[in-house]
Amino acid sequence: MSFASILLQWFSEHGRELPWRATKDPYAVWLSEIILQQTRVNQGWSYWEKFMHQWSTVEQLADASEDDVLKAWQGLGYYSRARNLHKAAQQVKALGKFPNNYQALKQLKGVGDYTAAAIASISFNEPVAVVDGNVYRVLSRYFGIDTPIDTTAGKKEFAALAQELIALDKPGIYNQAIMDFGAIQCTPASPNCSRCLLLETCVAFRLGHVGSLPVKSKKIKQRERRFDYVYIKYNDEIAIHQRGAGDIWQGLWELPQVSIIPKEVQSKFSEISTKICSNVKHILTHQIIYADLHLWVANVKPALPSDYLWVKTGEISNYALPRLIELLLVKLPNEDI
Ligand code: ADE
Repeated sequence: MSFASILLQWFSEHGRELPWRATKDPYAVWLSEIILQQTRVNQGWSYWEKFMHQWSTVEQLADASEDDVLKAWQGLGYYSRARNLHKAAQQVKALGKFPNNYQALKQLKGVGDYTAAAIASISFNEPVAVVDGNVYRVLSRYFGIDTPIDTTAGKKEFAALAQELIALDKPGIYNQAIMDFGAIQCTPASPNCSRCLLLETCVAFRLGHVGSLPVKSKKIKQRERRFDYVYIKYNDEIAIHQRGAGDIWQGLWELPQVSIIPKEVQSKFSEISTKICSNVKHILTHQIIYADLHLWVANVKPALPSDYLWVKTGEISNYALPRLIELLLVKLPNEDI
């Protein structure tokens, strides 16, 4: 049996039943793929249902306000994906129909090789192979390939191999089969080799290389930053502000940082504030953030820079917040939020 037919057999027995697998609607498939680039299937599921419920067609999503889209995306992080999603919906609406092939799909904002291949194969039966982290892992192990996957040569080699292997008659199912196989069976840290249909012909298993494949050439350099937040509460209001362009979290709302507290109050700050938590580690693609949170229950309304907004404590959830801020807010004592 070929590699593809073994995978298809495995998929028929172990593939996940996911709500978007019940449809070929390119809008539903596209939405699921964009969400799954950002989170795991379990969490992505509820987001997909929320989006489909709120905007059941791409035209409806196109007509939504960007704020509402960001709000629905909240908790997934990396909001540029949500902005692109919204812009792509407007592109589709302008076109009058969803692009129905790989090349045309790639013209949509936020749709790269992977997403275009996923939609083209699943919705339109076009035989284009997806290459994601699962595919790199499965192919590098099964064929024993140690070319680093984060190099141009590696990307080319794996893309060509994936394309050679695709089941031409069922490209969408094959693509989902290899991804599920990577996610469930051939996992990064504890692959289930002892019960694997591909065991006998797996090069990495034979040579004892499963744990060292795939290979990456470089570690990404991550910038470390410290954010020292303060939840300033005055009566039933708190101060927030919207982040500007040119840095992470553009357009999202956050708490003030200690550094913006007026100079004359700074020295007293340690007496009047309570430390809620420190060194909360939050990992982004290229940055690691360590955050502290202080609580300052003010009895005089502090003068803050003009771009700070006072909002009712219960209303902060109306603003799109970075995931880190959400994680910090739940650490506050109940009576303060
Ligand atoms: N990960 C992202 N998209 C997927 C899909 N369609 N099937 C399996 N895993 C996925």
